[in-house]
Amino acid sequence: MTDSFIDRCKNIPNVDLGDELFGWAAPSNIALVKYWGKRDLQIPQNPSVSLTLKTCETKTAISFSQTNSETPCREFYFDGTRNDSFGKKALRLIEFFERDFPRLKDYDLKVFSENSFPHSSGIASSASSMASLSLTMMSLIKNIGHSIGQDEFTQKASHYARLGSGSACRSIFGGTVVWGESAGQNSNNEYAAEVDGVAEIFHSMRDSVLIVSAKEKPVSSTAGHALMEAHPFKEARYSNAKLNATKIIDLMRSGEINAWGDLVEREAMELHGLMMNGPESYILMKPNTLEVINRIRNFRREKGIPVFFTLDAGPNVHVLYPDEHHALVVSFIEKELVELCENGVWFDDQVGRGPYQLEGSL
Ligand code: DP6
Repeated sequence: MTDSFIDRCKNIPNVDLGDELFGWAAPSNIALVKYWGKRDLQIPQNPSVSLTLKTCETKTAISFSQTNSETPCREFYFDGTRNDSFGKKALRLIEFFERDFPRLKDYDLKVFSENSFPHSSGIASSASSMASLSLTMMSLIKNIGHSIGQDEFTQKASHYARLGSGSACRSIFGGTVVWGESAGQNSNNEYAAEVDGVAEIFHSMRDSVLIVSAKEKPVSSTAGHALMEAHPFKEARYSNAKLNATKIIDLMRSGEINAWGDLVEREAMELHGLMMNGPESYILMKPNTLEVINRIRNFRREKGIPVFFTLDAGPNVHVLYPDEHHALVVSFIEKELVELCENGVWFDDQVGRGPYQLEGSL
């Protein structure tokens, strides 16, 4: 059955789709051990570990046909409308592919993209969008005659997604994902990999994303990474993060949920601590972020259930808990946390199985 997004691409007025069309959906991910600090093209200073989500995703499709022109056409459409400013990052990523696969220049490409969550909702889309673009480009490269095996396909997709945005390389895989060189893990800096042997409880972990503020952040993640270079605690951070990556994977394999949640919360606090105590101090949390955190900790104490928080580089709070507590936590969110969210907005998500190819062609 054709994906409805593919149908929408086909029906954009006055857009000629060319000969073929491919598409992939890729979900967002939430880091448990944070990638914070990089060198060169998103080579991380420490390993990171994340959960891939299910519902918050980006769909990307690319239509293409052989060109007669010296300068092939590159167009980007977001939500069915031409959008060159959104397209800049996408076109930059396509240039990385062109360097390695020069035959791509023989083709006109039109890129279409859509998020399952509203733009400017406070949920970052760079991971899901770079991951879905990268997978779609890999399908295209296969289609124009490059022979690529299954493992190579996903590793290359992850490698290119990383060139677009570091955390995007983790969105190529489902479940629990590790990226970055780490003692004891078979992982590397070039691309991410799924962590095997994770206990059942983490396969369906819930992530309720509370939008405390949807406003644009005063300091982007890319700028935050750069500020780590002159950070007085950078060496301590990188070595602690290495330890935390190993510890968190061990805890996820043994299923020790409370020790896991404790470590996840300390990682989030460490990330925000680094922002506040760096050479150019800044604060991305809002007063309501702290209030949400306090209420989650009180709720955990009162009910005795494993419900934890993490934060990415922003004010919004990810509430993490096992699926069996979903109904209870949702009623807690509705009673006590929604009032702390901007316009009462929150998204109910959970761990998913990763990207999937979109059905339907021209
Ligand atoms: C705090 O991947 O957005 O979310 O590589 O510059 O695009 P760039 O940065 P990005 O950084 C993510 C930072 C983080 C932690 C994480 O996801 O690991």
